[in-house]
Amino acid sequence: MQPLIRPLGVEPAPLGGLDRFDLDAAYSWPDGVWVRANFAISSDGAIEVEGRSGTLGGPDDRKVFACLRAGADVVLVGSGTVRAEDYGVVRVDATGAAGRAERGQGPAVPVAVVTTRAELAPDAKLFRQSREAGVPVLVLTSSGAPDAARAALAEVAEVVVCGEDAIDDRAVLGELARRGLHRILFEGGPTLMGRLLRQGLLDELCLTISPVLVGPRRSGLLGTDPLDSVVRLQRTHLLGSDDGTLFGRYVVGAPQAQ
Ligand SMILES: NC(=O)c1ccc[n+]([C@@H]2O[C@H](COP(=O)([O-])OP(=O)(O)OC[C@H]3O[C@@H](n4cnc5c(N)ncnc54)[C@H](OP(=O)(O)O)[C@@H]3O)[C@@H](O)[C@H]2O)c1
Repeated sequence: MQPLIRPLGVEPAPLGGLDRFDLDAAYSWPDGVWVRANFAISSDGAIEVEGRSGTLGGPDDRKVFACLRAGADVVLVGSGTVRAEDYGVVRVDATGAAGRAERGQGPAVPVAVVTTRAELAPDAKLFRQSREAGVPVLVLTSSGAPDAARAALAEVAEVVVCGEDAIDDRAVLGELARRGLHRILFEGGPTLMGRLLRQGLLDELCLTISPVLVGPRRSGLLGTDPLDSVVRLQRTHLLGSDDGTLFGRYVVGAPQAQ
């Protein structure tokens, strides 16, 4: 049978008509361990403008971002993104906090940072604010990281070794699951995204496509290295904003031979 190209009917469904309750339903979390990546890109595929992602998301993107964070057990993020975006503690709004309380989750979402070399400043905002909020950061690093760097971070965070010279990403996810952190919201960046995807460790991609063109960048959504095989995405939904932003939710398939 010939594949059909057809209009999506009512889709993209207007995001503006969805309240927080609807959004929570649209972005519900499956049972069990689930790794959901959330990225914003320009319409020509860029993941940053002047080194940061903020200008790629408008007000509706912030609504989706808040909804995804509020439902997560943990925010997983690479060290490059923590540094570039100057991460702080992940707090949720009052609606999100109420939902979290019902599920037995605290008001702040724990953050887990992946770093091979443990090159993060112990006085960074993320560690300071997380300590104040009583939600210590989890630092997942390698035994190849300098002892002094690991020891300095251990003063301000829980440091766990996952791998020797390189990070064992399966071990990272295993450490989260062992702590009961099943709803894993992966917020980037592209280097870590590429690694997780190559190993078949991502379950879902939430992709905001911003109606802007910003020109070529050194790194794309998956970093700089090509994939060995095609990864197919299965659309769960496509929502749209009045300003032209699209919000796709996709289940990530297993890597396939090209
Ligand atoms: N648009 C979006 O939604 C979005 C989301 C997130 C990030 N970003 C953007 O992405 C950029 C940061 O990208 P990134 O790729 O540096 O972020 P990343 O994936 O968060 O972090 C990459 C980190 O991985 C380690 N690394 C680098 N190359 C590696 C390799 N070959 N093997 C193993 N580990 C390696 C390095 O950390 P260690 O040296 O500490 O090991 C590096 O700092 C920023 O501009 C940020 O704004 C955009």
